[in-house]
Amino acid sequence: MNPLNNSLLTPQVSAYGGYAQQIAERTMRMLIQQDLVVPGTTNAPVFYSWPRPDRLVLVFDPMRLKNIEAVLSKRFAHSLSSSLNGRRIATTNTRGVFLQVAYEPPKIGDGLKAQPLDLSQQPSPVHVPIGATNKGPLWLSILDMDAVLVGGSRRMGKTRFLHGVIQALIHGGEAKLILWDGKDNVEFGRYSGHRNVRVVSELGQALQKLIQEITQRVGLFRQAGVSSLPEYNSRQPDKLAPLVLVIDEAAFIPEADQPALINLVARGGAFGLHPIIATQKPDAQAVQTLIKANLSTRIALPVPTHWDSQVILGRPGAEKLTKIKGRLLLTWNARLVEAQSFIISIPEMPSEKPASRQSLMTDEDLQVARFLLTQEGWFQAATVADAFGHGREWAVALSQRWERTGYLTPVQRDEKGHPLGRKITDTLRREAESGEDGNMENMANMENLVFKAQVSSIQ
Ligand SMILES: Nc1ncnc2c1ncn2[C@@H]1O[C@H](COP(=O)(O)OP(=O)(O)O)[C@@H](O)[C@H]1O
Ligand SMILES: [Mg+2]
Repeated sequence: MNPLNNSLLTPQVSAYGGYAQQIAERTMRMLIQQDLVVPGTTNAPVFYSWPRPDRLVLVFDPMRLKNIEAVLSKRFAHSLSSSLNGRRIATTNTRGVFLQVAYEPPKIGDGLKAQPLDLSQQPSPVHVPIGATNKGPLWLSILDMDAVLVGGSRRMGKTRFLHGVIQALIHGGEAKLILWDGKDNVEFGRYSGHRNVRVVSELGQALQKLIQEITQRVGLFRQAGVSSLPEYNSRQPDKLAPLVLVIDEAAFIPEADQPALINLVARGGAFGLHPIIATQKPDAQAVQTLIKANLSTRIALPVPTHWDSQVILGRPGAEKLTKIKGRLLLTWNARLVEAQSFIISIPEMPSEKPASRQSLMTDEDLQVARFLLTQEGWFQAATVADAFGHGREWAVALSQRWERTGYLTPVQRDEKGHPLGRKITDTLRREAESGEDGNMENMANMENLVFKAQVSSIQ
């Protein structure tokens, strides 16, 4: 990449020099992460930066791109934009591959400013925080929302939204919470120990327990001659609590547990079961069946295409959301609301975990983690071992250690049961991304490693 030559720039452009650098670096990092760059044999850059008064134009060398369509796709523009605070991006392919990025992040002129979550504003013990809307802060009762699907691209704020829901319901103290984060409790483990909270490791067992609870309630309703929870509670002295089942990363729901979950969601509504299910992959089969089993309230954070929006909300729209974290569209009760999620902080883990986790991440670990990002997140022992010049046993031991610490999923299998390998979890992804400071030396290293891996996979 050519350094920006400030002496040639108009004053207006040079004021944006920092942004231009940031845009160029982020773009390069994303290209490498998504494995779109052909390793160079000379010092020829992947793109030239061409500063315009209001935007930076990146002019690509098409020979250095593995997949021009991917660089021009809405998906690429979406992920780049969301890592650049929602800056507008346009791609063109007329006489060359161009990517144009506005220097300035979008001005949020719609009045939707993120407000910190204030639990003392909770309207009732079963209300959960949605966010700022143009009619003021919005909270909705989990009883009214009934069953909720939260979808949206990676890192746009799905898990954070769930944290808000959980914190509010704990604060309210009326609902019983059953929490499963798909990541060995690294997200929701911090809430264990609260009254009314069950943090589950074995989803299957938890679902069986819930099915028993629902079956009991069926009997109680029959005895009392009622057909809904509010009706039951209005007549009986012993009230039944709403059961809120929070599931993050629905894509990690073990296949064996899917039928039980689908059954619960379909049957549990009348008996006070409220599932809230978040996923990055709403088109997965299990999620599709759940949606049909009636997740009536839908929440979409920004997504790349109208098709993604269609899958989550049943209508387009979420692809047009400003690509900033926590921006969301909610369909509920035939209404469509745009909101900016509250700013939600998460409590420290009660255990010594953060400290010990830090020490688990050596520099090399971090390099491996970043390398995995270039492999679509797959940990393939042979490839990792080759890239880092170690033996296979080293890579296998690392993958097992990382599975135990929640950095990798267990070995995933295809339909026929053949092992596909372990995949990186959001936790490790976050480590890999947060440690990155985008400096050029790091990127050069990474390009080198990716190149080594490619060479060894050809051999
Ligand atoms: N409502 C929010 N309040 C504060 N930070 C947020 C919020 N939403 C997202 N973030 C930031 O974005 C990061 C990614 O959000 P996360 O919920 O983990 O995304 P997802 O689950 O969609 O991958 C968080 O670690 C946090 O730094
Ligand atoms: Mg998440």
